[in-house]
Amino acid sequence: MKTVNTIQEVRECVKAWRAEGLTVGFVPTMGCLHEGHQSLIERASKENDRVVVSIFVNPLQFGKGEDLETYPRQPEKDRIVCAEAGADLIFHPTAEEMYGRDFSTYVDMSGLTEHLCGKSRPGHFRGVCTVVTKLFHIVKPDRAYFGKKDAQQLAIVRKMADDLNMDIEIVACETVREADGLAKSSRNNYLNPEERRAAVILPEALRAAERMLSSGIRTPEEILKTMREIIASEASARLDYAEIVDAETLRPVSRIEAPVLVAAAVYVGSTRLIDNFTYEM
Ligand code: PAJ
Repeated sequence: MKTVNTIQEVRECVKAWRAEGLTVGFVPTMGCLHEGHQSLIERASKENDRVVVSIFVNPLQFGKGEDLETYPRQPEKDRIVCAEAGADLIFHPTAEEMYGRDFSTYVDMSGLTEHLCGKSRPGHFRGVCTVVTKLFHIVKPDRAYFGKKDAQQLAIVRKMADDLNMDIEIVACETVREADGLAKSSRNNYLNPEERRAAVILPEALRAAERMLSSGIRTPEEILKTMREIIASEASARLDYAEIVDAETLRPVSRIEAPVLVAAAVYVGSTRLIDNFTYEM
């Protein structure tokens, strides 16, 4: 497995694989890799001849006052995770390599980006769409792997690939969790032991919602009220949002009649955590 820092090196490597007729899978990440990322790389490695992992903390998707500077970085451990999971190439560019030379072109989507996290993180998905487009053009993979943990990001990337005729299959991967149900996340590293214990309130609220749906409750407000109460019962947790939206359009629904995405974002201390599940009818 090789690590490269320049766009040209990635292009040369992928070009050589293509010349041999090999297929290429791609896993974009911001590093600080955990078992969630690992599962994406392993799946990519099963389904493709070669796998590229990008590690890039994308400044464009962080808002003012967010954690760009403190975002955890651990390149040595990331290398080991990538190698063990079956990656062939790590692309680890600098911000200068990605956005040098007076960068001024952006990929901006309306609709899907305006709901859920889009409301509390203006500009975030513009940064995601722009960097993912650039990475797709650099790597030119056959398939790209994204986690359902970031369900809105997944829906947006799918739509972007479709709208802009990117000839890349977007593969959705299941959320990997800790033993107590908390979704694995690089941001879990910010939690102190007390906050880590409190953070389990997020998957608990989602599990309660799932039970209510399974018992036949179809009014979002009733389910959301319970979710809000559960989150409020944990003193160190503060709800950013809890929403029940149409699984395709991500628009809030007034009655649950088709597949829905139940999604929530919670601050535990100053750390913002997100989680979700999809309920198929
Ligand atoms: P990052 O947060 O590093 O996540 C990279 C990929 O790993 C995303 O597709 C995310 O959904 C997936 N992932 C994270 N935690 C997961 C978990 N517990 N189970 C399964 N998959 C999980 O998402 C980003 O980076 C960036 O926005 C990026 C797409 C790289 C663009 O900069």
